[in-house]
Amino acid sequence: MERTLVLVKPDGLQRGLAGRIIARLEDRGLKIVGAKMLRMDMELARTHYSAHVDKPFFAGMAAFMTSSPLLALAVEGKQAVDAVRALMGATDPQKAAPGTIRADLAQDIERNLIHGSDSPEAAAREIGIFFEAAEMHDYALQSAPWVVTGS
Ligand code: PPS
Repeated sequence: MERTLVLVKPDGLQRGLAGRIIARLEDRGLKIVGAKMLRMDMELARTHYSAHVDKPFFAGMAAFMTSSPLLALAVEGKQAVDAVRALMGATDPQKAAPGTIRADLAQDIERNLIHGSDSPEAAAREIGIFFEAAEMHDYALQSAPWVVTGS
């Protein structure tokens, strides 16, 4: 089993899409093992996006990511990094494959709703940035079909 970091970006919360995004992760069989809502500050933006601080889009991206709260999730599953990346689609929603979160729901390359770690090494680093060890949880994920009982 592998873990990866997902961020539901500020546009995901502002547009009321957090539930739909989480549902896609859960429908894929990924288990949420950590969750927190927070407002990213510039220090966190520089740490999380350390590979991009010198890129021309960093200032705009950081302004957006610090503008409003986001939802940080640690999710676990088989090949979780690749599974989340496949669900997300390409960075630019215009280039994302139909059926992916970004193609179906995102507005543009900056307001692209969701971040997912791009490698297992990045996932370990990023989970460590957002979560303390005690904030990570484990439990048994029941497999479908779920049976609703009652009269
Ligand atoms: S790159 O060019 O390969 O480094 O880009 P990529 O790794 O796909 O994405 C880098 C993160 O920056 C966000 N972002 C942008 N990327 C490219 N161009 C523009 N204009 C831009 N604006 C924001 C992009 O969404 C990636 O962040 P995450 O959080 O991983 O989605």
